[in-house]
Amino acid sequence: MKKKEIVITGGLGFVGRNFVELLDVKLRDHTLIIFDKSKKNLNKLNLNYKKNKIIIIIANTLNINKKLKKYKNIIALFHFGEFSRIVKSFEYTNECFTSNTLGTFKVLNFCKEKKIKIIYSASSSKFGNKGKDEHLSPYSWTKSKNIELIKNYSEWFGLKYEIVYFYNVYGSGQSYYGKLAAVIGIFEGQYLKNQPLTVVRPGNQSRDFTHISDIVRGTFLAWKKNLNKEYLLGTGTSYTILKIAQLFNTKIKMVPQRFGERLASNKINKDAHRLLGYKPKIKIEDYIKNFIKKNGKK
Ligand SMILES: NC(=O)c1ccc[n+]([C@@H]2O[C@H](COP(=O)([O-])OP(=O)(O)OC[C@H]3O[C@@H](n4cnc5c(N)ncnc54)[C@H](O)[C@@H]3O)[C@@H](O)[C@H]2O)c1
Repeated sequence: MKKKEIVITGGLGFVGRNFVELLDVKLRDHTLIIFDKSKKNLNKLNLNYKKNKIIIIIANTLNINKKLKKYKNIIALFHFGEFSRIVKSFEYTNECFTSNTLGTFKVLNFCKEKKIKIIYSASSSKFGNKGKDEHLSPYSWTKSKNIELIKNYSEWFGLKYEIVYFYNVYGSGQSYYGKLAAVIGIFEGQYLKNQPLTVVRPGNQSRDFTHISDIVRGTFLAWKKNLNKEYLLGTGTSYTILKIAQLFNTKIKMVPQRFGERLASNKINKDAHRLLGYKPKIKIEDYIKNFIKKNGKK
């Protein structure tokens, strides 16, 4: 019998790789189709179990139809393959719209036509300021509009979906430097280089930080439901950026505020817990303590 196929767009990115590694542990006899426009992180993918067939397709979601034409047994598509950073979306606006709007439109049509369930990686960045923060950046806006489109596609064409909201994901495989580095990765990179941690003013902007292992577990649980629902995978606890920097117990340097910076994004509902039995296991404080222990400073 032909193996069931699962597509993971952005499967070589930070979340995507961790998710593929989880599928590799949890599933057997499936074909995992990793679909990513860049192969630069291929060597970071760690597959130890090999109970599934792995296919890697390096291509843009704009061409998803053509690239996946021969796969007739796809049962789910996890969509992580988008431009993924708030502040950088002002600089890389074209890339952001190409992936998040044009690319995702192709992905949705592909899922609609092939009757494939989509699991979409949404951003909690839209929740701040009573929902007005969806307008704060090209990133937040495009991600937020995709959610509306997915729900409309469900109403109009019967598209099956689950939407998982991520909150400032950190942990194994995150970037320390470059345009895709986020705050915990940046702080770790600075700590390792013995540099002061740069806190963006005012410093009291607060975030809910969620460990990657919790995020991928929540996403897996959501896939198993057939509810067309949204699941908020945050921890429910927010920290200011300054407090996070202080937990590293090292020097801190305040840097000017940036355009698009939001103050808070702490909305949480209980559906992930109630419907999925999801409860985040890792606390950011414990993670930072462990990081410091491992990296030799007191
Ligand atoms: N990391 C977080 O804190 C966070 C928070 C909220 C939501 N999300 C969402 O989760 C998803 C994954 O985030 P991440 O942190 O792993 O980002 P990432 O940048 O590490 O990974 C994204 C991957 O998608 C690929 N990609 C981008 N555009 C593509 C396209 N058009 N076609 C094919 N591949 C494409 C990139 O090459 C990259 O490998 C994104 O949709 C992001 O918006 C992430």
